[in-house]
Amino acid sequence: MERASRGGAGAGRADDRSQPMTVRARIVAQFRQPHGPLGRLAGAIMAHRPSNRARNSWTVRLLDLHPEDHVLEFGCGPGVALEACLAAMPAGRAVGIDHSPVMIGQAARRLRAGLADGRLSLQAGGLELLDGYNGAFDRVFSVNVVQFLPDLDATFAKIRAALKPGGRAATSYMPRTRNPSREDALRMAGRISRAMAAAGLVDLRTEELPLTPVPAICVLGRRAD
Ligand SMILES: C[S@@+](CC[C@H](N)C(=O)[O-])C[C@H]1O[C@@H](n2cnc3c(N)ncnc32)[C@H](O)[C@@H]1O
Repeated sequence: MERASRGGAGAGRADDRSQPMTVRARIVAQFRQPHGPLGRLAGAIMAHRPSNRARNSWTVRLLDLHPEDHVLEFGCGPGVALEACLAAMPAGRAVGIDHSPVMIGQAARRLRAGLADGRLSLQAGGLELLDGYNGAFDRVFSVNVVQFLPDLDATFAKIRAALKPGGRAATSYMPRTRNPSREDALRMAGRISRAMAAAGLVDLRTEELPLTPVPAICVLGRRAD
């Protein structure tokens, strides 16, 4: 069977495939770049599924935010983590980037207060947007986006450049494949750590959050200078 999908469950768009997809497979395929009515459904699932909310709030706690921090979330989806960031930084500012206009729309509705008071900016686009933010952020993070990025070395080089000296990166991941295992999560943690190290980030550490059916991991690193 010929497939245009790029890499595992959650990859590819429904209309990339030559074979009919089940409804479940069509929803799963939306998580890479939600679009259309099924994309809106995927966004609602991300906003309400307990494991997704737990993973996002855990990641924000690991960021150890200060009240005046400037934070970037890459692949912000419907804005669950950005909401927690704004609550944790009364005088802080946040930027959310996502290449799905549907997700930017859902995040804008969830976070309209932050947009109105000027503490939040939401931008539709990809990693190229980081080039406009050299040395701008105290924290740069993502939650379940890394599996969609084809070149982790290039990704973390951009993230390092977007951080202030002393700023921290955090990248969380929980396998959403069929029959996932803890080893899958740890394998991704290893790939993230190697890419962070290659980009020059230091003080690398991996945290684990017990979830069902597999733990989530978060790899953290710091820009030294
Ligand atoms: C599985 S969802 C996770 C969303 C959110 N971080 C959460 O945990 O609720 C992945 C998100 O990353 C976005 N994304 C994936 N690849 C991207 C890329 N190259 N540039 C920008 N956004 C991307 C998708 O549009 C989607 O909203």
